[in-house]
Amino acid sequence: MFEGLSFDDVLLIPKRSVISSRRDVDLSVKLFSSVNLKIPIISSPMDTVTESSMAIAFARYGGLGIIHRFCSIDYQVKEVEKVKMAENYFVENPICISPEITLKEIKEKTENYHFLTFLVVDKNKRLLGLISKRDFVLEDDENKKAKDLMTPFEKLIVVNKKISLKEAKEIFKKYKIEKIPIIDKERKVRGLITFRDFMSSMNKKAVRDLKGRLLVGAALGIRGDCLERGEALAKAGADVLCIDVAHGHLEKALKAVKEVKRKFPEIPLIAGNIATKEGARDLKRAGADIIKVGIGPGSACTTRIVTGVGVPQVTAIMLARQGAGNTPLIADGGCRNSGDIVKALAAGANAVMLGSLLAGTDEAPGKIFYMNGKRVKAFRGMSSMIAFENKINHTKENIDYKPIAEGIDYGFVDYKGPVFEVLESLEKGIRSGFSYCGARNLKELWRNAEFIKITSGGLKESYPHDIDYL
Ligand code: XMP
Repeated sequence: MFEGLSFDDVLLIPKRSVISSRRDVDLSVKLFSSVNLKIPIISSPMDTVTESSMAIAFARYGGLGIIHRFCSIDYQVKEVEKVKMAENYFVENPICISPEITLKEIKEKTENYHFLTFLVVDKNKRLLGLISKRDFVLEDDENKKAKDLMTPFEKLIVVNKKISLKEAKEIFKKYKIEKIPIIDKERKVRGLITFRDFMSSMNKKAVRDLKGRLLVGAALGIRGDCLERGEALAKAGADVLCIDVAHGHLEKALKAVKEVKRKFPEIPLIAGNIATKEGARDLKRAGADIIKVGIGPGSACTTRIVTGVGVPQVTAIMLARQGAGNTPLIADGGCRNSGDIVKALAAGANAVMLGSLLAGTDEAPGKIFYMNGKRVKAFRGMSSMIAFENKINHTKENIDYKPIAEGIDYGFVDYKGPVFEVLESLEKGIRSGFSYCGARNLKELWRNAEFIKITSGGLKESYPHDIDYL
């Protein structure tokens, strides 16, 4: 029997460091030719963590969100589409509406998208006008029609071709407008440039595809609708697919990885979870481009208690690295703070995946509520009984047995405000950790990192002690 260690069992030994400012640390990581993240953090495909709002915030911050699969294919596809449409300096297919549509219907539409501008067109897609938030938020008469509320074509500034960012800037500056429709000679809509997207295209931190749209991943299971779901997600523009199952070293999971990779060879494929050298090796051989590590470390997991199976996460990452060779690894689960993230990266991971740390933010699905005088949000394990029932109601998984739950049904986490603030403080902590290890980037961290195993005395000393604090 060999020893398995987790985050609380180890510390990193400080090293001589040339780093004079934390800003000199480069946290970027390449997971695939098309997936270059600015921070090594990915949001977990859990239904209380990642839908479009979280994925948008993550891509804007330079990370990656993976939309969960505990829903119908249609629902998941819509979430992916919302991310792909959220921000694009040039919107290829802007949402067009008829002039006869009522304000009530327009308001319903705004709930489906993360934007509030619609182009009004006739039956031949000829531009008649434009409706934006300003035109309708203060209007009470919901029976009013688009044609009564829109800014008419005659008053719009339009262009006849896709223009450069520089040209767009000049138009925005000169006319003080927020939208520039692109039309052809017949006045048919060919696209839309928006001020908000123009501004966010200046955000150098965001991770984007070749068309300037935000990056997003989407999860798949291995049963039932796996390929059908993969097909729909690929069509919707998912940049990464993620086979996300509890035991990634199942023959069935390896077969699914092979099939998905064969069917969508150009889309990077994350697969997991595993916690051994052999698991990583077999997933790699099956075609996984990125391997997800973690059996039982997650905050809402009961796998180790229910089944007696698991590998403490630091050891699991080290073992997986032996089997994965140069294939990128994502350490999934168990990170409670930036220190754990630095340890996961130092152990051999290229990035970490987070669940509970993000579930209390505004961008996580679900409402804020009060419990014992505190603001909280719900968080549950994806192998919990509720998640299982949700899955069989919304997916085509043909399940012929009722499994035992391996996750918490009714968990709660403190409300934390915008995810941006959580990511910012994690990023600062990670930068500091790299600096203590004398590492300017991940490569140097892997080279310099030296772990020390600690005792319960060392752990006690690590946390604040002998003082009262809030
Ligand atoms: P954290 O610790 O960041 O972990 O909340 C998130 C990861 O936990 C995994 N996960 C589960 N594992 N039973 C499990 O054994 C569950 O019900 C469960 N739900 C989530 C998952 O890998 C996630 O990314």
